[in-house]
Amino acid sequence: MFYETEKNNHGLPHNPFKSLIVPRPIGWISSQDTLGNINLAPYSYFNAVCDNPPMVMFSTTNSLSDGAVKDTLYNVETQGEFVVNMATYEHREAMNLSSASLSRNENEFLFAQVEMIPSTLIKPPRVKGSPIQLECIYYQSIQLPTDSPGNTNRAVIGKVIGVHIDDNVIVDGKIDVKKIKPITRLGYMEYAVIDNVFNMQRPK
Ligand SMILES: Cc1cc2nc3c(=O)[nH]c(=O)nc-3n(C[C@H](O)[C@H](O)[C@H](O)COP(=O)(O)O)c2cc1C
Repeated sequence: MFYETEKNNHGLPHNPFKSLIVPRPIGWISSQDTLGNINLAPYSYFNAVCDNPPMVMFSTTNSLSDGAVKDTLYNVETQGEFVVNMATYEHREAMNLSSASLSRNENEFLFAQVEMIPSTLIKPPRVKGSPIQLECIYYQSIQLPTDSPGNTNRAVIGKVIGVHIDDNVIVDGKIDVKKIKPITRLGYMEYAVIDNVFNMQRPK
């Protein structure tokens, strides 16, 4: 089959786009506003964009029902810092709960019963028990076009300035992904867990 995205003439009951770029890593992002209100939310339009220096991006794809931008976007653009916590299979329910649309002064750590621990270099807290946490500072936002008038579609890029790794997931000097079991986003309501890896040598 072939469809044109502007016509959405795929003939399927659901738009398949999010199922076509899989798996997407989940950036479980903690942030806070300038008043100190703390926030936690998952973003799967998320990835590393380069490693020298290490930088990451996430994007918020629409606005809240009252037209306001999502808390994570607001916090990062105004306060300037965020933490990317790796979401694992163990944390799957809490990660999902933290995607609830709460008001700005409600803390999703408390709502999802996730324990906060302080960061080392920045103000927003980290997720206790998440084996990898990246402390980031805001670099730049890129306004993207939107097909839904009134929505905010914005990609945010941050620079990673501090990295926490649970020593238990380092085996023979390497990160053992099988010990972490990161969860990833697929399309629809589907997720996958990474618990099986294979190696290949690159050609010369
Ligand atoms: C696994 C998962 C991935 C998500 N990825 C995104 C995303 O990439 N962009 C986005 O705007 N919303 C995404 N959402 C929805 C947000 O998490 C949700 O709108 C949340 O309430 C935003 O919280 P905030 O306003 O506290 O930032 C995702 C939800 C889940 C469960």
